[in-house]
Amino acid sequence: MPDAGDLPAPAAGGEFLCASAELAERGRAYLFDVLEYGRSVRAFALRIDGQVVAYLNRCVHVPAEMDWQPGEFLDSSREFILCSTHGAAYEPKGGRCIGGPCGRGRLTALSVSERDGMVYWYPSRDIRPVFAA
Ligand code: FES
Repeated sequence: MPDAGDLPAPAAGGEFLCASAELAERGRAYLFDVLEYGRSVRAFALRIDGQVVAYLNRCVHVPAEMDWQPGEFLDSSREFILCSTHGAAYEPKGGRCIGGPCGRGRLTALSVSERDGMVYWYPSRDIRPVFAA
């Protein structure tokens, strides 16, 4: 991770997440921790069709982490996010459940942006950086 002094200034309120090069197209996710309502929760970022998306690592079916191996969320065709517990499938863009026991649910998305080779995420009222506790 580069020193904060080496980083370009993000858009207002953005938190540095990782270098763009760390997110290969439909590759392994970048894992990070956030605070949701003050409690530590794992989150992940993926690159899908060139765009970075990020979600809390929490299945809609049962509040369990979903990756098969650390950072591995996609099915064998690299098409859908697949929960390793009972096989719920989610659209990687938007996080909508499209099959399995997640019903009409949707993953909790985090706002992200990419600029000058760096990826940033944007805290909300409910989801905050860990160091801001
Ligand atoms: S916990 Fe994810 S499908 Fe059941």
